[in-house]
Amino acid sequence: MTRPSEVSVTACPNGPLIVRGDVELRGEDGDVLPRTRKTVALCRCGASTIRPYCDGSHTLVGFRTERPPASPAVEFD
Ligand code: FES
Repeated sequence: MTRPSEVSVTACPNGPLIVRGDVELRGEDGDVLPRTRKTVALCRCGASTIRPYCDGSHTLVGFRTERPPASPAVEFD
């Protein structure tokens, strides 16, 4: 049996990316981001006021991660 990874990233349906484990996070400028917990939620909806972290705004803006329905096939004569 394999040991579970010490670091994992899980995409939450309609929500953030959950990062678990001891991993260094860096901002756009390359600086290490402050982190006080081993598990953090990273925003992927773009609405958070504390980016890159999730503040729950994804619920308010109705962020959805489901794929849109497939377009109907186009037929040519
Ligand atoms: S994913 Fe939660 S605020 Fe963006």
